[in-house]
Amino acid sequence: MSENGKIKCPSFCDVHVHFREPGYSYKETILTGSKAAAAGGYTCVCTMPNLNPVPDSPENLGIQLDIIRRDAVIDVRPYASITAGRKGMQVVDVAALKGKAVAFSDDGSGVQDASVMRKAMETIAGHGCILAAHCEDNRLLHGGYIHDGRYARAHGHRGICSESEWGQIERDLELARETGCAYHVCHISTKESVELIRRAKDRGVNVSCETGPHYLLLTEDDLLEEGRFKMNPPLRSRSDRDALIEGLKDGTIDMIATDHAPHSAEEKSRGLEGSAMGITGLETAFPVLYTGLVRTGIISLDKLVELMAVAPRKRFKLPVSEEDYTEIDLSEPFRIDSGSFVSKGHSTPFDGMEVYGRVLRTVYGGKTVYSL
Ligand code: DOR
Ligand code: ZN
Ligand code: ZN
Repeated sequence: MSENGKIKCPSFCDVHVHFREPGYSYKETILTGSKAAAAGGYTCVCTMPNLNPVPDSPENLGIQLDIIRRDAVIDVRPYASITAGRKGMQVVDVAALKGKAVAFSDDGSGVQDASVMRKAMETIAGHGCILAAHCEDNRLLHGGYIHDGRYARAHGHRGICSESEWGQIERDLELARETGCAYHVCHISTKESVELIRRAKDRGVNVSCETGPHYLLLTEDDLLEEGRFKMNPPLRSRSDRDALIEGLKDGTIDMIATDHAPHSAEEKSRGLEGSAMGITGLETAFPVLYTGLVRTGIISLDKLVELMAVAPRKRFKLPVSEEDYTEIDLSEPFRIDSGSFVSKGHSTPFDGMEVYGRVLRTVYGGKTVYSL
């Protein structure tokens, strides 16, 4: 750190964002999403495939790649889906997609059928690619939409149990062990998930995982009856949050990804039950994590940079360059104002929070792509 509290660090890399184009550009576009990423200090992001059309063929993925070439202000790397139409039945043509996609994911839903997941892992492993899984067992959902815990019971909401996440992780870890597939678990949120992945790593399974800033900093105790607290997986209990922090510290959790999932104001205006799942994350991630984890002494600044910039590039084999960096002011507090976001999505549980760590400038390939 310099004397005036300013630092320069490698720009961030988020392996889990939703830019909504093609298909849902009223929520976000490649242009607005990549500009929001730059404003958050990121120069590389991987976009999830719950789009229309789903990037399940070279032709469909090509539509997104054309928009990226035209509009992206940073490095935007799309995922291809694991299954045709993200329907969980037919594994995509991995050979045809692997040169064009960063990895394979059906994010937005879990792959329900174990035999399809096995086939996907075998195929993806055969091509030396990564499978990134949103783990969610639909049989256990029962119409839930927030964590199945104290808050849901006290306020009469239907809960999402932890097992809907960890049960599928447990299944997949065994499949990854058997197939040798490079397996990445998206947005882990429960203590059981941390422990399962910890044990799998001990046994030598080729597994990595991410969690999001909100799971590390918030719990069901922070819930208000507002759509900006709703995302999938949901904010869990305090013991889950504590286990995630332990997992960060001991290396079980490899990286932090935002799951930036913008929706329109109207879609987020219908309270906890009626709102769409997903929050905007790219423009708040560094300041909330720096304030909540580094200034409090839970992890070091170097560790945070490792989690947000170094580890994701390493695991997903994304380029590292001295010409990609971010300048940040650590000394002046400011208030998060969702109204001022570059993203089209303005829904965040961190709105109004006082934080440190404002991004001053983001440089990509030697060129300034954001400046305050
Ligand atoms: O909160 C979420 N938003 N979770 C998901 O799984 C999907 C995502 C979205 O696409 O909005
Ligand atoms: Zn997901
Ligand atoms: Zn997602």
